[in-house]
Amino acid sequence: MITADLKGKVAFVTGAASGIGLAVVERLAANGAAVALNDLAHNPRLAAEIARLRAAGHNVAPFPGDVSKPDDVDAMVAAAASHFGRLDYLVNNAATPGTSKPIPVDDFAAMDEAFWAKLVSINQIGPYRCLKAAAPHLKKAGGAVVNVASTAGLAYGASSSVYASTKAALILLTKEWAYAMGPEVRVNAIAPNVVDGSGWDCRFDPAGMAATIAKMPLKRAGKPEDYAETIFYLLAGAPYVTGQTIVMDGGGAR
Ligand SMILES: NC(=O)c1ccc[n+]([C@@H]2O[C@H](COP(=O)([O-])OP(=O)(O)OC[C@H]3O[C@@H](n4cnc5c(N)ncnc54)[C@H](O)[C@@H]3O)[C@@H](O)[C@H]2O)c1
Repeated sequence: MITADLKGKVAFVTGAASGIGLAVVERLAANGAAVALNDLAHNPRLAAEIARLRAAGHNVAPFPGDVSKPDDVDAMVAAAASHFGRLDYLVNNAATPGTSKPIPVDDFAAMDEAFWAKLVSINQIGPYRCLKAAAPHLKKAGGAVVNVASTAGLAYGASSSVYASTKAALILLTKEWAYAMGPEVRVNAIAPNVVDGSGWDCRFDPAGMAATIAKMPLKRAGKPEDYAETIFYLLAGAPYVTGQTIVMDGGGAR
């Protein structure tokens, strides 16, 4: 496990009360960073995780809000920067599949206008809103951004083609934003495949999942901690890496 001295650094993590987001918070806090945790206001896990992390001695604070709401994003990022006095790192992790079971690629009726609008607003424009609000603070600090994309955005298959398109857009935006934020700020992404231990609300066919995992060189689903390790590296290390997406698929699935 890699470590870094992050005392004096401040991170803002969206969708931080669960899964990959929470694992990133743990890594950053364990290495001395102060962390602003964002999640939906009605998610009871946000307050519970803040209490647990504070009891462990970490400098964390909650900034509830919905990344699909511009006013929420502006308010929560401003409040976090004011509370901690700076922002060094942004992790755009919050996202949703918007469905409890996968939608076949030809089921156009299921992927209606409201479904498109919801997923694009949360998964694609949400990271833009957060970056826009955090950009002046990140540039001043000379920080870094990691976007949590997905192998769905690389045509591995997805809960829906709409979800896949939002993650493909985020991979493209990672390149665009590397130009927008350089040279002060690096912007990278990870593309997880299956996550063992997420609170994801889309359940896939277990037999199909087992077959996918059996084809991987690493023979297991990635844990939130595995993904957090790479996010931590891209934030705290990797000084000459920007605009890149690290594919984390257990080595492939042929
Ligand atoms: N679980 C998977 O199989 C998988 C695979 C590839 C990529 N991903 C990506 O990994 C990231 C994290 O997923 P996870 O598996 O840890 O999921 P998770 O459900 O455990 O965590 C996501 C968190 O985001 C929060 N959230 C959802 N919508 C939000 C919004 N509009 N505003 C603020 N917070 C919001 C949720 O409340 C939840 O706490 C996501 O970007 C997801 O697309 C997940």
